[in-house]
Amino acid sequence: MPDDEWGTGMDQTDTDAGADLEAAASGASLRRTEARSAQIEREIADDPSRFRMLTGDRPTGNLHIGHYFGSLHNRVRLQNAGIDTFVVIADYQVITDRDGTGPIRERVLSLIADYLAVGIDPARTTIFAHSMVPALNQLMLPFLSLVTDSELRRNPTVKAELEASGDRPMSGLLLTYPVHQAADILFCKANIVPVGKDQLPHLEQARVIARRFDERFGRAVPTAPVFPAAEALLSSGALILGMDGSKMSKSRGNTIELGMDSDTTARLIKRAVTDSDRHITYDPDNRPEVSNLVKLAALCLERDPVEVAAEIGDGGGGGLKRLVTAAVNEYFAPIRARRAEVAADEGYLLEVLRTGNQRANEIADATLDDVRAAMGMVY
Ligand code: TRP
Repeated sequence: MPDDEWGTGMDQTDTDAGADLEAAASGASLRRTEARSAQIEREIADDPSRFRMLTGDRPTGNLHIGHYFGSLHNRVRLQNAGIDTFVVIADYQVITDRDGTGPIRERVLSLIADYLAVGIDPARTTIFAHSMVPALNQLMLPFLSLVTDSELRRNPTVKAELEASGDRPMSGLLLTYPVHQAADILFCKANIVPVGKDQLPHLEQARVIARRFDERFGRAVPTAPVFPAAEALLSSGALILGMDGSKMSKSRGNTIELGMDSDTTARLIKRAVTDSDRHITYDPDNRPEVSNLVKLAALCLERDPVEVAAEIGDGGGGGLKRLVTAAVNEYFAPIRARRAEVAADEGYLLEVLRTGNQRANEIADATLDDVRAAMGMVY
């Protein structure tokens, strides 16, 4: 067999997807993704059984109301629409931007309690831990052969995370972040991934890997491609800022966690930043802090923010905060009660995880068999 039949590098036509990855979250590409997301929503309403969805979180701290309105709420909606749903607890990802795993066991269990409290149903959603699914992780090696280092270095999500981690050097794990995340998505052959704009380059990389895998190896197998092209479902979630008006994040100490009690919630909202205009309006561009609180109340009350603001009128920051506090505490009361109940039952949390791990392993083993077959590694 001539040497070149084996191929010596990337396919000539597909050497570097770096530019596509950089463009994924902007301009025409973003608009296409938005239009396609709207269409997927219609297809889901029509026939949810055509879809498998995967999402995930790093177990780095407790989930907060920003996570809830930004993504959890949407996941539960899609699960309830009848989509086969997978949630990866991305425990290995914890060390992409920090040295230690922290109190990881406690955090994993707490994350599961958060999931169950908001309505993720283990009968319909497979909740599993990344580290517990060896066959998923074994996909990394063939996938790594399908990407170039320049592509990874140019990935905007990798760049952003490197910048956010201050003086830390780029670790191999951070550099390959898009590849292990592709393995998370592709192991279960998910065809939709609800994401925010910032994660679009990752998803594009997963699509590139799926396509290249088929081009390189899959053609030996006369059936369908091994991996489907996963599509982004741009989340319809709302962005809620922290109580100081900056991004809601544990490290800034500006979060309201799902598991907090109503007194703590009231105290945090009382300290929230507002402005000096007593007349409350919903004007996100000019009054970001006030509008953030109005929006939060509106989401909890399932009402229009402009109307909510008009109703507070000249009630000032005090009136606004009283309304927000009541709305948040009422909305989250059943979620918090459910959270307290499940969090007290470690046996149940572990059972949910073990059941999910088992299903994820069965699927990952089958996928790895497909991969080995496509690559001719059947011994
Ligand atoms: N990177 C995601 C985060 O930090 C978590 C995650 C891991 C994920 N694997 C995934 C999200 C696959 C979507 C798809 O927040």
